[in-house]
Amino acid sequence: MRIHPALAGRSCYHRYEIAPGVFTPGTHLEIDPGKCLDELGVPRELSGWRVLDIGAWDGPYSFELERRGAQVTALDVQDPDISVFNEVKRILNSSARYVRGSVYDARIEELGTFELVLFAGVYYHLKSPMLALQHIRPLLNDNGWLFIEGAAASDYLGQRLAATLGLPKSRAAEVTAAIDALPLSYFDTEERIYPHWSNWFFPTTHCLEVMLRDSGFRDVKLSLQTNAMYKYKGRRLMGQAKADPAMPDPAEQRHECPIWQAETLSVEDVLKARLLVNDAAGDAHSGPIGALRRVAGKMKRRLLG
Ligand SMILES: C[S@@+](CC[C@H](N)C(=O)[O-])C[C@H]1O[C@@H](n2cnc3c(N)ncnc32)[C@H](O)[C@@H]1O
Repeated sequence: MRIHPALAGRSCYHRYEIAPGVFTPGTHLEIDPGKCLDELGVPRELSGWRVLDIGAWDGPYSFELERRGAQVTALDVQDPDISVFNEVKRILNSSARYVRGSVYDARIEELGTFELVLFAGVYYHLKSPMLALQHIRPLLNDNGWLFIEGAAASDYLGQRLAATLGLPKSRAAEVTAAIDALPLSYFDTEERIYPHWSNWFFPTTHCLEVMLRDSGFRDVKLSLQTNAMYKYKGRRLMGQAKADPAMPDPAEQRHECPIWQAETLSVEDVLKARLLVNDAAGDAHSGPIGALRRVAGKMKRRLLG
């Protein structure tokens, strides 16, 4: 194995082959990008597909997707001159387009739309993965594919709960499975699951499933297993989902918080509000209770005369 001479003296995250026997100078993770994408279920033939690789970093998956025939856009917050993306692109004579920016700012106007989005190894590095998914959905054509991969909380939580309950090790798998079936997530500010500060959000399988469905995806298929992307070191979440035509822009969802439109209150709403106010304990003249009381009174006068 040798490092490509154009990359001598450089360093990057992934070590991957860019020509037979010639590699990038990755210091953290040695991977075979083709095998990783095969495991994830990404089609081997992508001719004519527009594909977005979010969290592309030094490019292992972007260039493999291009090798499979796709027209690739890579998105990442990293500087592609530092990460070696641009140098590998030059070596491979690649046409992949690199956009430096955050998934939180991803917009159709800048990036276009895609038949496939790869979102591998990123969501758990985000404090707001739901917001990211809501930005990703409009970038996909209806029924376009999302392939997703990342860390999970289930094994860690299962072991901790089993130990807390004093259960024998033989019961840990059962506890883990029960936790994995709940829509839970672990927000890790203490580096309990992975020993680095940049890992925040660790969902269970069911949690990531419902997050995807609520963000405009359907036909969600996820599994919790070891994989080539993470060198089989621990179980990760991986799978796919389709962009739901019924939810083209989940950011427009109106059900995150109901907005009380006073003008549209019915007599029943007003009477219900009065009941609530009368039942509520605490200060009846200030704060939310006071505000509710004033609105209810005003609406009652207006509606009932
Ligand atoms: C662990 S690496 C994953 C790299 C590669 N996709 C993989 O699966 O091996 C996480 C990548 O996500 C990128 N990233 C983190 N936050 C991001 C954001 N808000 N928008 C876009 N990329 C982000 C990081 O810069 C980094 O390149």
